[in-house]
Amino acid sequence: MRPNPPLDHLLDAMTLEEQASLLAGADFWTTVAVPRLGVPAIKLSDGPNGARGAVFKDGPRTACFPAGIALAASWSPALVEQAGAALGREARLKGARVLLAPTVNLQRTVYNGRNFECFSEDPWLASELAVACVRGVQSAGVAATIKHFVGNESEYQRMSISSDIPERALRELYLLPFERAVKEAGVMAVMTGYNRVGGVFMADHRRLVHEVLRGEWGFDGLVMSDWMATLDTVQGVLAGCDLEMPGPTRVRGALLVAAVQEGRLPAAAVRACAARVLRLAERLGSFADPVIPAERADDLPEHRALIRRLGAEGCVLLKNEAAVLPLAPRPGQTVALIGRAATVAQIMGGGSANVNAHYRVAPADALREACPGVAFSQHAGADIHRWTPVLAQPMTVEIFAGSDFAGPAFATQTLPNSEVQWIGTMPPGLVEGQVFSARTTLRFVADADGEHAFSLISAGLARATLNGEPVLDAWTNWRRGDTYFTFGCDEVVHRRHLRAGEVVELNLEFCNTPPGGGGPPPAFAVLRVGAARVLGEADIAAAVEAARAADVALVFAGLNAEWDNEGLDRPGMTLPHRQDELIARVAAANSRTVVVLQSGSPLLLPWLEDVSAVLQAWYPGQECGHAIADVLLGAADPGGRLPQTWPARIEDTVAFGDPAQYPGVDGHVAYGEGLLIGYRHHEARGIAPRFAFGHGLSYTSFAHEALVLSRSRLRPGEALQATLTVRNTGTRTGSEVVQLYVHAVEPALPRPPQELKAFAKLSLAPGQTQAVSLALGMRAFAAFDEARCAWVAAPGRYEIRVGASSADIRQRATLVLTDEWMERVGA
Ligand code: BGC
Repeated sequence: MRPNPPLDHLLDAMTLEEQASLLAGADFWTTVAVPRLGVPAIKLSDGPNGARGAVFKDGPRTACFPAGIALAASWSPALVEQAGAALGREARLKGARVLLAPTVNLQRTVYNGRNFECFSEDPWLASELAVACVRGVQSAGVAATIKHFVGNESEYQRMSISSDIPERALRELYLLPFERAVKEAGVMAVMTGYNRVGGVFMADHRRLVHEVLRGEWGFDGLVMSDWMATLDTVQGVLAGCDLEMPGPTRVRGALLVAAVQEGRLPAAAVRACAARVLRLAERLGSFADPVIPAERADDLPEHRALIRRLGAEGCVLLKNEAAVLPLAPRPGQTVALIGRAATVAQIMGGGSANVNAHYRVAPADALREACPGVAFSQHAGADIHRWTPVLAQPMTVEIFAGSDFAGPAFATQTLPNSEVQWIGTMPPGLVEGQVFSARTTLRFVADADGEHAFSLISAGLARATLNGEPVLDAWTNWRRGDTYFTFGCDEVVHRRHLRAGEVVELNLEFCNTPPGGGGPPPAFAVLRVGAARVLGEADIAAAVEAARAADVALVFAGLNAEWDNEGLDRPGMTLPHRQDELIARVAAANSRTVVVLQSGSPLLLPWLEDVSAVLQAWYPGQECGHAIADVLLGAADPGGRLPQTWPARIEDTVAFGDPAQYPGVDGHVAYGEGLLIGYRHHEARGIAPRFAFGHGLSYTSFAHEALVLSRSRLRPGEALQATLTVRNTGTRTGSEVVQLYVHAVEPALPRPPQELKAFAKLSLAPGQTQAVSLALGMRAFAAFDEARCAWVAAPGRYEIRVGASSADIRQRATLVLTDEWMERVGA
């Protein structure tokens, strides 16, 4: 155990080159060590729903937790803190001391590809959960990295788009989760977004990083850029963006030293960034314990149990007509399980949040396990994918040095399915920057007659023959598309009719040379081969017949990690392929039709009136099937409430019909709606949503009674408590989320009609009553006054509204703020 050297002495002892070396990663996931002075390297890991470790795909297994939106749907800071602590522990199993989580950008539109990763459209809910998550992660001795600072609300032109956000919206909405995580949870690290704000890249944003984050809020932790988002040698350091990730450096290192030597950058700026890298190491105890342990894949029973519980606590019961749920199928009854997601567990979204889960419990398996004697039939019905599914059979790839498959293969790699990703890793025996080619052969056996799709996506060049005939070309005209963080091409598809039992052979060639041949090969190399039968009319018809013959039809519908995905936005809110038709036809065939939705974002539900019940289960992690079965069968109450409004029509959504507001024009996306996102938008414009923010049914019912405010006249600086009692008026134990909204009756500045400012989740037995006390500080009444650069609560009347959703206000009380309250920000 080495003692921690005082950081100033350490910095004094470092050469400029050594200090500069600390300002970029050593590789994809670690910082640079300076062994001469005992400075340790620190390992980082994604991400928000599991600690992946250093291998992007198929690395050591890890626990997969619910996606951000699913955690948020629990409305339980206490549980999210537990999830954070478990994620911190998982990070340590991977040798990491920095976890790249949580993601706290707001759900501004319904299109964002990363909607699933974010907590909420509401800044108070998002910030409460951010604080809880950070506290949890950091309780495990791991630095949380709150991301992506700030204005990263869509994936369109994600490496360059400028989010042009009015100052009030920035302060009141988008910055709040970051502000509270700094001030209330002491978050140790912040990741800047890829985007620009007001035309300036976030990694270079001196006003927001140096002045607001560090200056106003007093953040003294580490700021890192998103991966490959440090583009300028000098500006980022001047802004106080300490760490360029990943490494090895692209724009720092020797370039930084030269900038100092040429007088373009003060040496003190480099030293300040280096000091913050060292301080992080010191805070984590890494000087004393510098060894980065090998990755472990421990499958912890307590994490299994927590994930199962979190999954059920996040399930939102949207509709439950005639109490069709919970189901109680008796032995001898039949249940038709319909939809791909019944058998293929949809556990997480796509992109850097993706992990190699220990296991994935499919709903069909969990239901069978829980209901012995019940007959379950199973029908896929309709497709859900964005890209042709990969082949679930091992793929062995031969690797050749150089671009032309010359000589004997020098390595082979066997993957569990027909997708290989070399992201931050290289094939065995190669180092980053080396050119290689790869070859593989796949056999595909058609299991039914029909049209089949074969497809290629590649980051790098790829082509394929089918039974010797060239059919797929992502080589000659390879063009960068939207896949794989925008490093892959768009999918190339070949379709052909096959008969059941027919065997075809696909021969694939891949090369990681950059398109056009110039420059070094990119750090992202991917080959993805799709091969599947295209589901059609016969599949729907079979599902409908099974539904007709069953006592109850359970349809699993929704999206998957290709739609709810990093790097590209969703095209809209419609269920892909023929899923809407499938549900409508099943509902027509069976009056007891229950739909389980899985998505990380709102969907249109044109068949809503025709089905008995709808449960939104999101992406609940590796215990997916168990969590869903627990709720469907009533072992758990559906604990979730919507953290995002579900609009009835795409036309009703924020930014609809104005390309300047979404997706953006000429590199800029204007947040022209200002404060009016989510329920604020719906309520200000009088547009009824399909399901309101905060909505979600329990299997029991609750009464909210006797709302009392601790004061009816509030003087600036005084605390306010709103208390009420909640009674379980039903016959089952269940959970209720009490939500408090503030409405400014005579606002000095224009305000949204109401804003969530407090909430509490409780679980009550039948007949049980509980007192709830919700505290409000002065900021709950304040708006950001740009002219005065201050938070200002105007004197006057405020209505406190308490209810079970933003549209289900049960009680109101009014208070008067006697005088103005003001808190200046900045100098
Ligand atoms: C994502 C980050 C992530 C990083 C490392 C980026 O593409 O935006 O959220 O932490 O990659 O995987």
